[in-house]
Amino acid sequence: MAVFHFPVKIVSAPGCLKELPEELNRLGAHRPLIVTDPGITKAGIVDRVTRHLKDKDLPFNVFDGVEPDPKLKNAVEAANAAKKGDHDLIIGLGGGSSIDTAKASAILTTNDINLEDFQGPRASYPGPPLPLVTIPTTAGTGSEVSSAAVIVNEEKKYKMFFKSPEIFSKVAFLDADVLVGVPSQIAAETGADTLSHALESFFNPNGTFITEKLSFGSIELIFLNLRAFVANTADSRRAQNMLNASCLAGIAMTTAGLGLVHALAHPIGVRGRIGHGLACALLLPHVLHFNWPVDPDRFLKLASAIDWTIRVRYPSARQASLEVINEIKDILSDIGLPRKLSEIGVSLDDPDTVIDEAYGSFLNQVNPRPASRKDLEKIVSEII
Ligand SMILES: [Fe+2]
Repeated sequence: MAVFHFPVKIVSAPGCLKELPEELNRLGAHRPLIVTDPGITKAGIVDRVTRHLKDKDLPFNVFDGVEPDPKLKNAVEAANAAKKGDHDLIIGLGGGSSIDTAKASAILTTNDINLEDFQGPRASYPGPPLPLVTIPTTAGTGSEVSSAAVIVNEEKKYKMFFKSPEIFSKVAFLDADVLVGVPSQIAAETGADTLSHALESFFNPNGTFITEKLSFGSIELIFLNLRAFVANTADSRRAQNMLNASCLAGIAMTTAGLGLVHALAHPIGVRGRIGHGLACALLLPHVLHFNWPVDPDRFLKLASAIDWTIRVRYPSARQASLEVINEIKDILSDIGLPRKLSEIGVSLDDPDTVIDEAYGSFLNQVNPRPASRKDLEKIVSEII
């Protein structure tokens, strides 16, 4: 049985943030708190958002204490700011770190709970979280339309994962005006994250006919735009297309789920102290090779999204399906991402713990090909 339920209103166009006050009004919010990181403030992006609130004399506050790989303490501080300022809505502004922190703080503002006890899919909370509006400033995480959040438990050194329909955003604004000019390295790493979401949701056994089309559309947009966007992040049309690609993949992964790339990327990000998109980029080709024998025909289905000449160049179905993986490797190289941790001088602390965490992750159980510890050891050895 295929079920698809998606409650987020999506507003998408360069300049669409001018509609923000109107949407807040529609939601009955009179005093939003913007949750973001200091880099977004410094880049002037907070001002690009708040001028629309100032134009309508709407009172607001800004919490810009979110750190990369957001910590539980960031969410607690943001929730305290929301309580102290008597805010009635949270605006998550930024990349995945800020938006995930906004989700966690929306929960903690209205619930006096230990967030660690509410992990995993389908979590629900004693009280409804504060309403949330999301504004992504990177085209990557899809967090603006997903019902999931990842927060680092700094004491126990692992990433906590939450998924609940209660933390869906009410409105997501996809506005290229806040993405243009993003540093190329960030565009590349977040683009690799989007590609991983689109591919993992495409291959996930829980996908449906709807998520398949969303994932396919995202992959098509990525192959048409990512190389050019990384080369020139001032291109507003490419920026909007990448925001749309990220959004499509975010909707697909919310229903279909992810897989082994993300099961490994979370502990590798923590133990290797590297960004999430970079961890995904390193793992993606190896996980695809690992999954390939389960259903080579499914890889073949992607040929037309990636490059229509694949089937002409490779009449053999086997070779064409493997070429799909090669094309994915090529786009990651073309946008300047490394193939191994050693290329960027990173060594992995405690690989055994990485393998234990990935093996025990529910994301391993929903991968098209469940991996043994030995399989995981091999994949990790390939990226060291
Ligand atoms: Fe991701």
